[in-house]
Amino acid sequence: MSDTLAHPKAGQATKRLFIKTYGCQMNVYDSERMADVLRPLGYAPTETPDDADFVILNTCHIREKAAEKVYSELGKLRVLKEARGEAGQGAMTIAVAGCVAQAEGEEIMRRQPAVDLVVGPQAYHQLPELLTRTARARGERIGADFAPVDKFDALPAARGGDGVTAFLTVQEGCDKFCTFCVVPYTRGAEWSRPVAAVLDEARALADRGVRELTLLGQNVNAYDGEGADGKPSTLARLAYALADIPGIDRIRYTTSHPNDMSDDLIAAHGELDALMPYLHLPVQSGSDRLLRLMNRKHGRQKYFDLIDRIRSARPDMALSGDFIVGFPGETDRDFEDTMDLVRRAHYASAFSFIYSPRPGTPAATMAAQVAPEVAKARLHTLQALLLEQQTAFNQSQAGRTLPVLFEKKGRHGAQAIGRSPYLQSVHVDDADHLIGRIVPVEIMSGQQNSLAGRLTGAPSDRGLNG
Ligand code: SAH
Ligand code: SF4
Ligand code: F3S
Repeated sequence: MSDTLAHPKAGQATKRLFIKTYGCQMNVYDSERMADVLRPLGYAPTETPDDADFVILNTCHIREKAAEKVYSELGKLRVLKEARGEAGQGAMTIAVAGCVAQAEGEEIMRRQPAVDLVVGPQAYHQLPELLTRTARARGERIGADFAPVDKFDALPAARGGDGVTAFLTVQEGCDKFCTFCVVPYTRGAEWSRPVAAVLDEARALADRGVRELTLLGQNVNAYDGEGADGKPSTLARLAYALADIPGIDRIRYTTSHPNDMSDDLIAAHGELDALMPYLHLPVQSGSDRLLRLMNRKHGRQKYFDLIDRIRSARPDMALSGDFIVGFPGETDRDFEDTMDLVRRAHYASAFSFIYSPRPGTPAATMAAQVAPEVAKARLHTLQALLLEQQTAFNQSQAGRTLPVLFEKKGRHGAQAIGRSPYLQSVHVDDADHLIGRIVPVEIMSGQQNSLAGRLTGAPSDRGLNG
């Protein structure tokens, strides 16, 4: 192990950090924060592992494929690490972080000797200390016996990056225990950050030029962080407070559980312009029988009622969701119920997955696992319908004028790409001078995955935000 890694100090020569992120947006946030924690030690991001001094795989355990990818990636990194060692190019430290680290830390260490340290999602603020210790002895494994409060307290207030949109984790963990899901085991119990801490981070982001925040949590609408009065707040109240921060014009949140969609949050969608009309509200299945087996704790009618209430508060709400097909015991009839739910609910976008049995979860040992070819055929059928709805939703925007927050340059000339209030990607020619601004855009056409628009000729920066 090289001396520079053993005793990293601020102001030292730059060391290269490569982080590869799998899984959900919370992992994306965590990866950014790991970079923040390591920056004072002289680590700067690099685009490839080839020349990296420190490689972190921030992993996901949600489906078997996601978890297995980690081991194949580690195999490649081992070759790289050995080649560097032989060429005398200095040591490479390899860390595994995230949900696979939490769930299978010991197995990772056993299966892949090239791994220097393993750090769970609640412990990555300790990376600097771990790095120093690892320089002496391999094999540290730090899991989630730490409360998330320690982590957030230890993270630096300043965040790197220069985008106009940012993720902000406000809630972690899950107490729902859906029978298919590993998250309650990898991320621990539900916990919310205090309002003041969230506002501080949001203000720092606004000062850096961020205009749109996406509040993150495994069950973000269960947010109950401590408010200024010492009492639990709600996500709606948090959204109002965030919208008061100068510069913060758009607020989104993900992921929500139907049972935590409270009245004040629904009402806020009708009243708070900054709250964007897009809601990711997974239902997983349209069959009451399966919803029970999944322990989702609500039926299909409750989901329909909820959508009705949300759409009365905000008629143009774009709905998104997650679906699982091939859950143990799923019959053709159950699947037809899911198709029916989708036809009635109308999705602007959605994610759908084949059920993957996860070790330690109740569903993994249920009888009547569905044959893979049946599950595949159902996924195909469902995805065709969801794609049809998504395309129809995008096409229905043609002729409208939507406020677009421009985020980055496009592929052609002076093209710029931004997002509509409904989270659609919008590309506009000759607009790259507008990056960072919210501008009315006339939508010319909608395709499967994006909208084409043009400037209306009177770009105004404000006032059209919803
Ligand atoms: N907290 C969020 C979801 C987190 S996981 C929620 O409750 O909606 C993201 C998605 O992965 C889930 O919504 C589900 O559709 C899918 N998923 C979770 N476990 C899975 C499994 N074992 N097999 C297949 N898909 C799974
Ligand atoms: Fe997993 Fe269910 Fe919790 Fe979502 S609500 S994270 S699907 S256990
Ligand atoms: Fe995956 Fe963990 Fe997120 S299992 S989906 S990275 S919470």
